[in-house]
Formats: sequence, C-alpha cells, structure tokens
Amino acid sequence: MAVLPIVLWPDPRLSQICAPVQADEDLRALAQDMLDTMYDAPGRGLAGPQVGVMKRIFVMDVTWKEGVPDPVICLNPRITARSDAVATRAEGCLSIPGIQTDVTRPETVTLDWTDLDGVARSADLTGFAATCAQHELDHLDGLVTFDRLDPEARATAQAGYDIVRGAGA
Ligand code: NI
Repeated sequence: MAVLPIVLWPDPRLSQICAPVQADEDLRALAQDMLDTMYDAPGRGLAGPQVGVMKRIFVMDVTWKEGVPDPVICLNPRITARSDAVATRAEGCLSIPGIQTDVTRPETVTLDWTDLDGVARSADLTGFAATCAQHELDHLDGLVTFDRLDPEARATAQAGYDIVRGAGA
C-alpha cells in the first residue's frame, strides 16, 4: 500500500497526452497504489498523470463512498460510443482541489479497456459512472475540466481556483 503524491494543476504533466501501456507490463503494483491514493484523497477516480505516470491507465470506483466498493482498473481505455443526450454535472478533480466545475458531456458512453490480466472489457456507462470515465479519460489526453468550458466559464472557474490556492498557500 502506498499513497502517492497527487500532481496539481497547472502542472504541465496534466496537459500532456499519455502513451499506451504495454500489455505485458506489470502494472499491478501501480494500479494498487493508484487505488490507495484515490481512496485516501478521497476521490472516485484517478488517472496516471495525476500521480506523474504518463501512461494510459486510470482507476475508478464510483460507489465506494456509498459503502459499495467496486474498483475498476482501466488500461488503454477508449470510448467507442456516445449518446447524443448530454448531462451537466458538477465535477471535482483531485488535481484541482476545492473546486467543482459544471461540465456537459454525453450522458451515456460505451467504454472499452484492457484489464490487468490483459482481458478486453467493455461496459455501457450512464449517470455518474459515465461522467467519471470521461473525466478520467480526458486526463490521459491532457485535458482537465477547465478545458471543457467556454472561455467565460473557464475564466470564472480558474479565478475560483486561484482564490482557493491562494488561501491554502
Ligand atoms: Ni480529475
């Protein structure tokens, strides 16, 4: 068990596109550390670059806070279908602590990934799970919630973050 330091925005690593992970790479220890870090934070999702690992891996557990642990470890995740219907949710991010940002995304997505055993997996996600998976996948493409906002909303959100950071400094 290891809780890793979390990279905070605007660290440039949060704006880089991550490399695919190799199927034969042993990512078990890293995945466990990422889950430990996510639960400790506490959060519901954590992507590689948030712990300085520039690889296409994220972990999520959207129900553990309700007492139902369901950790999912996604290697090389891809969204293969998106609904036309969209939903707007207030999203937090462990790399942007203290800020909730309203982001509009497809309401339902199909997520394909490889698990730690190298098995191809797929799930139709809706509700908060769909939001979380899209948010974490964004991290692997160098995007944070701010990057999903129009310029005016982005300026407001970033100003809020500056205030939070200033208060914590
Ligand atoms: Ni995040």
